[in-house]
Amino acid sequence: MNESTNKGFLLTLEGGEGGGKTTQIVRLKDRLFKEGKDVVVLREPGGTVISEQIRDVVLSSKNIGIAFTAEVLLFQAARAQIYREIVLPSLEAGKIVIMDRSRDSSVVYQGMVRGFGKDMIEKLNDLSTRDTYPDATFLLDLPAEIGLQRRQESGKLDRLDMEGNEFHFKIRKAYLELAESDTTGRWQVIDASKSLEEVEAALWKKTKQVLGL
Ligand code: TYD
Repeated sequence: MNESTNKGFLLTLEGGEGGGKTTQIVRLKDRLFKEGKDVVVLREPGGTVISEQIRDVVLSSKNIGIAFTAEVLLFQAARAQIYREIVLPSLEAGKIVIMDRSRDSSVVYQGMVRGFGKDMIEKLNDLSTRDTYPDATFLLDLPAEIGLQRRQESGKLDRLDMEGNEFHFKIRKAYLELAESDTTGRWQVIDASKSLEEVEAALWKKTKQVLGL
């Protein structure tokens, strides 16, 4: 049950590039549907008409000149919109909301790696989400070089995928640090270097645990 709304359940999937979050979320949603659960699946940045427009601006490989402060605020703008339009009403209605990235992506990418600091980003996250935290967060962890290789093979590179290897090494390290420093118990680390089927099975096991199924 979500602590902010006292209803629903917010599950987020996090991690660096090429960890298979998007594929796994589809499989997880199908399994939950089969259990008769009311599930909403969303991605950030995006998920609403307005947030998808912001996504185009912030991720376009044409926009390499974007100021890092603008990047911080665009991710937050997309987040404010999706929480107001979909996430908060869905939680209020008692639904399970599964998100492909949310507030922790900003903590890691903009706060810890770009250097804006966790505190500043968490203040903005609180504003955008109206103080909503995930009930559970699964970190799909894998070595950055494997993730990047998978991403290159898929041929779909956005502006952040095109950052150098060093950037992606830092992202992995920052996620692990964040998960390890967690005192709430909401983080679970999943080894995403394994096969799709193995990762799917691990995710399902953990999802059943957190939802009490
Ligand atoms: P996406 O194609 O959704 O990435 P992935 O498949 O890797 O999840 O692109 C999202 C990109 O935006 C990804 O590189 C992470 C980045 N990002 C941030 O830097 N900050 C944020 O707050 C969010 C939500 C995403």
